[in-house]
Amino acid sequence: MSRIKTIGILTSGGDSPGMNAAIRAVTRAAIANGFRVMAIYRGYEGLINDEIREFRTEDVSGIIGRGGTILRTARSKEFMTPEGRKKAYEVMCKREIDALVVIGGNGSLTGARLFAQEYDVPCIGLPGTIDNDLNGTDLTIGYDTTLNTIMECVDKIRDTATSHERIFFVEVMGRDAGFLAQNSAIAAGAEAAIIPEDSTGADQLEQFIGRGIRKSKSSSIVIVSESPKCGAMYYAERVKKEYPEFDVRVSILGHLQRGGSPSAGDRILASRLGVGAVQALIDGQRNVMVGIRNDEIVYVPFSSAVKSDKAIKQDLIDAMNILST
Ligand code: F6P
Repeated sequence: MSRIKTIGILTSGGDSPGMNAAIRAVTRAAIANGFRVMAIYRGYEGLINDEIREFRTEDVSGIIGRGGTILRTARSKEFMTPEGRKKAYEVMCKREIDALVVIGGNGSLTGARLFAQEYDVPCIGLPGTIDNDLNGTDLTIGYDTTLNTIMECVDKIRDTATSHERIFFVEVMGRDAGFLAQNSAIAAGAEAAIIPEDSTGADQLEQFIGRGIRKSKSSSIVIVSESPKCGAMYYAERVKKEYPEFDVRVSILGHLQRGGSPSAGDRILASRLGVGAVQALIDGQRNVMVGIRNDEIVYVPFSSAVKSDKAIKQDLIDAMNILST
């Protein structure tokens, strides 16, 4: 592999607050180190279709506080095929892009991993997802902002729950992970969190009711991780049937969780990781995600990063159960 002169950057998968801060950091750190930066629009789709232009320092001015991604994003089905990746590689050769920085979640970094296995292209991933479900990093870009957004929404829902003495099932995102549900429940003082990681096999609704919540409290908020079969609607319907004495409502927060200006935490995280991505390339790293662990920048092989077994700390679950009584 010859010396890297030009770095391509793209965002892929679901947008997350802080992606722009990461784009800014990668661009500025790359230029400061003598690289050219090529901005690739619409994720891997844009790489395949050659939607690319050079970025200069001023192209990333004034974006650190903006949600979404100025590069746009997509979930590319074509890139998941060998033919799609071949087209992407040909565009990289034509454009003389020597390395790729991919900002995205599990699916996006899996794509980068496949690409790196097939072609001799150094790929560096940055964890950009609200779900916080990437292994090897304590935090992902966007998670903190989303957590705060959910907390603010639940604080508002609490007013109605208390006034009407209702049980609210509030459904939050997270795909297959319960980090958003578990931690927003703690932050908002919810009465329960129903998460996919629960390994006890117990019926989480029965546990909540069984804790005698309604004996001591006149209203309750239960945060439920999204799930095709067992989301907030499912639990609300069950309560309506099994405990008709309760007044139940559902609130599905949806995509408002993903938008908005990134928190200070996400801006700083994205800035550090963006600079870290360029440093990784300078260090000769390839096919790793740059993450943060115990406040230190770390390089995590893609194969470990995308393993879907990041655990929720038991002390969080215990704290939730103690504090919600
Ligand atoms: O991965 C981020 C995420 O917001 C998940 O929490 C959610 O399941 C999914 O993306 C929604 O994706 P879309 O915006 O494509 O519907």
